[in-house]
Amino acid sequence: MPPTIPMLTYDPLDPATLADPHPVLAALREATPVFWHEGMRTWVLTRHADCVAVLRDYALFARDRRRMGAEVPELSLSVQSLDPPHQAPVRSLFMTALHAQDLTAIELRARALLAARFGRLTGGGEFDVMAEVAAPLSIAVISDLLGVDEPDHSSFAQVSDAIMRSMDGGLDSSVVEPGRIARQELSALVESWFRTSGRPGLLSHVREHARQGTGAGLDLFVRNTARVMFQGGYSTMVAAIGNAVHTLLHNPHALQQMRDQDLLRTGVDELVRYDGPVQGTSRIATETCEIGGVTVTEGETVTVLFAAANHDPAQFPDPGRLLPGRSPNRHLGYGWGTHACIGTMPAQMALRALVASLLEHPAPLNAAAEPRRRRTATMRAFDVLPAVFRPELGVHR
Ligand code: HEM
Repeated sequence: MPPTIPMLTYDPLDPATLADPHPVLAALREATPVFWHEGMRTWVLTRHADCVAVLRDYALFARDRRRMGAEVPELSLSVQSLDPPHQAPVRSLFMTALHAQDLTAIELRARALLAARFGRLTGGGEFDVMAEVAAPLSIAVISDLLGVDEPDHSSFAQVSDAIMRSMDGGLDSSVVEPGRIARQELSALVESWFRTSGRPGLLSHVREHARQGTGAGLDLFVRNTARVMFQGGYSTMVAAIGNAVHTLLHNPHALQQMRDQDLLRTGVDELVRYDGPVQGTSRIATETCEIGGVTVTEGETVTVLFAAANHDPAQFPDPGRLLPGRSPNRHLGYGWGTHACIGTMPAQMALRALVASLLEHPAPLNAAAEPRRRRTATMRAFDVLPAVFRPELGVHR
């Protein structure tokens, strides 16, 4: 039995850990790569190999808590909470619908939006990247992808925020109920899209093909998955864009390297490895087993820390360096296995549009006042990220 790490040793909400989680994660990986966290009542995994082993084995490590006799609220039953074989028809319905979309056209529209925004923001002094770039770009791309009208930005941001915060329910139970109410509100909106939106896009494809009898049916799972696609996709993308801009502001050489189209393609993945938004996920052991020399008892929760795995030197040489051409780059920023991100392609596309637009804009973007990290554990994001375009500096080529 390895030593139990007291909760204070690893507190994801500690200000120093929020500022930079990697020193403490590296120390934990070195000392006790698999440890029991009493506060979160979970085993925590920090090594890439252990994380992949758990994510790969859905028979042994369940996402669907109902397999262990737990009750799951109806609103939470989606592609995210089901395991194979029940997950397969829903997942393939959405994957097929995604592949049917014209991502190149969406990317071009994203770039046009960014060029117009950057133009307006130039010469206007300091601005908040989260409010002025990350949120509007994400909502535009997701609405475009799904084929729906953009919802009112500020009320949607509030609902999305409550759902995102509720992901930390294991650390703070007060965020659970606001998250449930927000899910209900958003479900009503998604429901109305299914009824009324006639625009081409991912949702209309899903609606048509679910009706044509893919086996999934236009049922609860499909509706809930549509909500997860919209809200999960939006909040993760906002966070990813903020983290990427912050990283690039502090790594201007890497930004310039990404003028090369090959490095742009691989570089957006390296940005997600280096400082990705999703810090971890959890599974439940369906049988007593061993992970990294530690015995995990049937029914115990296992938390896979993507952030730690993505900086594991056994998998990524020199993990603290941002290398746009890093290859291989088997990072876990988009998850792994049967629950890996469905939105990886549009996410990569939006990040490419962001980086290309920053490089094309005639004025370089500079960091301004001190940014403020959001106090959330599962999602790593900024609340405020001040920056300024400085036309007088010209673009360094
Ligand atoms: C850079 C942006 C993004 C990142 C870093 C990201 C990351 C992730 C990660 C790590 C997971 C796996 C979580 C787990 O195993 O529990 C996941 C799942 C998921 N993502 Fe993303 N995501 C991003 C953008 C998007 C977008 C844009 C969409 C939708 C358009 C999306 C839709 C989903 C869905 C539906 C799942 C659940 C898949 C399943 O459980 O089968 N994501 N994402």
